Amino acid sequence: MALLTCMLAFASCSLAGQAPPQQRPTAVPRPALAVPLGAAVNYNALINDARYRDLLRATFSMVVPENEMKFDAIEPEQGQFNFQRADAIVTFAEDNNMWVRGHTLVWEQQLPAWLTNGHFTRDELMRILKEHILTEVGHFRGRVKTWDVVNEALAGTGLRDDLWLRVIGPDYIKWAFIWAHEADPQAQLYYNDYADQDGPKADALYTLVTNLRSQGVPIAGVGLEMHVDARQPPDAQAVAATMRRFAAAGFQVAITEMDVMLQHLTGSLQSQYQTQAAIYRAFALDCRQAPNCKFFTTWGVCDQYSWIIAATHHADAPLLFDKNYQPKPALYAVTGAL
Ligand code: XIL
Repeated sequence: MALLTCMLAFASCSLAGQAPPQQRPTAVPRPALAVPLGAAVNYNALINDARYRDLLRATFSMVVPENEMKFDAIEPEQGQFNFQRADAIVTFAEDNNMWVRGHTLVWEQQLPAWLTNGHFTRDELMRILKEHILTEVGHFRGRVKTWDVVNEALAGTGLRDDLWLRVIGPDYIKWAFIWAHEADPQAQLYYNDYADQDGPKADALYTLVTNLRSQGVPIAGVGLEMHVDARQPPDAQAVAATMRRFAAAGFQVAITEMDVMLQHLTGSLQSQYQTQAAIYRAFALDCRQAPNCKFFTTWGVCDQYSWIIAATHHADAPLLFDKNYQPKPALYAVTGAL
């Protein structure tokens, strides 16, 4: 099995009991998958950790910056744009023949203090948002093919009571898409959220995006985040139904941020890994079987850099590779399904 594992062309695999190789793997071809497999990239790991880079380029064909394209990273002071880190990630992707998803232009979180404390009028905030989107999307025009334009705007079934809604009103969503389209008419523009199951929030999401479309707003697709707790995963058939519903309305979908938290499970690590693999497989299969599902992205590469650990203040192992850069059962479940 270990030998087979190593023959499957992934970097850093090792025979049982042997230390993983420290040298750079030679140009290992990425597995050919029908649906592109992507990963959120941790900038510090990308810059400082050669094994991380090797794993990334050997396994994934798409990257999304985990934080470096968010508002506070790109425009830390009003009108002063800093593309250095995001550029480094995009250049890495281009050098390695990978797609880039942009994440994200409008969100309530990771906003700079000048923006949240600025007490701007509606007109001022409209101008600020327009300039931000035109500048950021324009900077990456032709290089970032897909954008999460608006992120997590729904709280339950209504729009989230955040800066954008309070000052601009619900139209901020429409304008964000229009400005992103103006800056790069070729880019595929997505609305991204964690309403990935059936139920009232998924219905609200459907209503939101179909209303935008009926007003002529250039929105191509819907990102389903899929941060999963292995103790209570969403129902794969319900997610498949959500994908079909969007397909019928002419929308692309994608799994955009999948990870599977194990910290609430009991039992041996091996059995937890099997549970995790089954969950990953179910949603990868949903995506593979939905003609409108365009890519499958995990929110990280290997467990030691996962955001879940900081977000939950608890050890966890939610990704496809473990903290020793070794492939987990979930990796083979996902690549097999895709
Ligand atoms: C997270 C990052 O992973 C963390 O590093 C950061 O501290 C907070 O944001 N939904 C999203 C992502 O759309 O942008 C979030 O990323 C995770 C939840």
